[in-house]
Amino acid sequence: MGAGQRSVQNVNRVDYAALELKAEHKAQDFQHAKGKKTARERLALLLDEDSFVEVGRFAGGHASEGFLGASVITGFGEISGRKVAVYAQDFSIKGGTLGKVEGTKICALMDKAMAMRIPIISILDSGGARIQEGVQALSEYGRIFKRSCKASGMIPQISVILGPCAGGAVYSPALTDFVIMTRENSHMFVTGPDVVRAVTGEDVTSAELGGAELHNVQSGVAHYLGEDEEDALDYVQSLLTYLPNHCDELPPRYSYSTAASDEQAAAKVKELVPDDSRQPYDMVEVVESLVDHGEFVEVQEYFAPSIVVGFACINGESVGIVADQPMHNAGTLDVDSSEKAARFVRCCDAFGLPVVTLVDVPGYRPGTDQEQAGIIRRGAKLIFAYANATVPLVTITLRKAYGGAYIVMGSKSIGADFAYAWPDAEIAVMGADGAVSILNRREIKAAGPDPAAMAAKAKELSDAYAAENINPNLSVASGELDGIIEPSDTRQAIAESLEVLRSKDRTHSGLKRHNNGPL
Ligand code: HXC
Repeated sequence: MGAGQRSVQNVNRVDYAALELKAEHKAQDFQHAKGKKTARERLALLLDEDSFVEVGRFAGGHASEGFLGASVITGFGEISGRKVAVYAQDFSIKGGTLGKVEGTKICALMDKAMAMRIPIISILDSGGARIQEGVQALSEYGRIFKRSCKASGMIPQISVILGPCAGGAVYSPALTDFVIMTRENSHMFVTGPDVVRAVTGEDVTSAELGGAELHNVQSGVAHYLGEDEEDALDYVQSLLTYLPNHCDELPPRYSYSTAASDEQAAAKVKELVPDDSRQPYDMVEVVESLVDHGEFVEVQEYFAPSIVVGFACINGESVGIVADQPMHNAGTLDVDSSEKAARFVRCCDAFGLPVVTLVDVPGYRPGTDQEQAGIIRRGAKLIFAYANATVPLVTITLRKAYGGAYIVMGSKSIGADFAYAWPDAEIAVMGADGAVSILNRREIKAAGPDPAAMAAKAKELSDAYAAENINPNLSVASGELDGIIEPSDTRQAIAESLEVLRSKDRTHSGLKRHNNGPL
């Protein structure tokens, strides 16, 4: 190389390192003032130390003008030694909005993640489509949506919302498997408060319109309510400990040596469940007493609380748990709990996690509000999810299972591989009072006209019905239950069933079994 060339190169050389430092300082000033971390600080929290390899670092920038690049950082890193693809939006650059360059970077990353068959994690903090780029920006969302749907059920997709996400920035996470928000600073809405005010005249705060509490408790959009950014990113790490890299890889399995504490907890599970089937108790405590080290990572804890779903391990094997929660609305199934459990079962099935179902359900919640809300259509989703699942399904009825809810909650007839019940479990089409009011109407009327005599007759018939019909005997005799187990043997029964089912054939053709679309 001649002297002339060298001097031209020197003139054009850009001090990228200095620019980067400047950009990060600007981002820190911008974000810290709002109590938020920068995109790079978030990546550092999420990923193993020094594992991040950035791609397209300066794309979209005009370095010679001192402007470094796009409002999204993309790349690969490791979480506990496992490779992941990750992108983090940078709100300090154009409000983290999405334009052509950002869309191109994210799509390229998603394509790579699918080709490498590794999870993709997105950290979102964005005003949505960049208004100045017009429909081109909208198209970029279209391209991201298309990829997210293609990846659904093939590789885990996790979204962390750490800022005011609006427009397309909410639909891209909505298509992913898990949406995580933080108590403060995390908002999701299709249109922000200013636009709402301009269009409808409604005066509403960001929290009222799309705060983390709203989406965790009411709308069911979010799966976890983080206390802060650290907590939210920590939850991502926890989720990944249960999920495989892709649908054809077995979920993580840990070497497990029987802990005395697990055996002691399992032996005492009955003490957590009152004998009276109408007495509430906390099903989460029951779950914790049955799984390894009492560790249960709950999903959608605050939404549709009459059902509990989440991940745990049994003898080192990752499983999904679905359990009725008698503490809320007596554990009845409703529109929201049906969809919550259905999507979770679909997710487990997509990623090969066995589903363990703990049943204590009085039935679908009756009433006009549920019928009007579509309990038929939305309740059907849970049947669909269990009936189509190909992962090992193990179901235990603890205290009661009535009517349609008995069948829907992972019963043998819709696909459970193994189904057990505790000795005193009440299993029947309906409760005794309801049954005799239909079956023995004339007999009860004949005991009248004295209301006390009629009530006494009804009670006598009800007691007789309960003694004869409300028990697991018919289900055992018909093969719908594989056995009656002592409560203290529950953990062992689940573990043995899972062991037997380990070689269950789940072969399929194509890139994935099915998607995990939002229900
Ligand atoms: C261009 C935008 C922008 C956008 C924000 N900014 N949103 N620029 N396009 N969509 C810019 C702001 O002008 C500002 O630039 C900087 O980002 C920070 O924004 P602020 O408003 O100062 O921040 P904050 O007060 O925290 O409010 C954040 C916000 C608000 C709630 C997100 O900016 C907002 O409501 N934006 C519009 C959101 C929206 O309606 N998006 C929908 C887009 S359409 P300066 O230069 O002043 O720092 C869409 C459709 C996709 O996404 C369709 C998919 C189906």
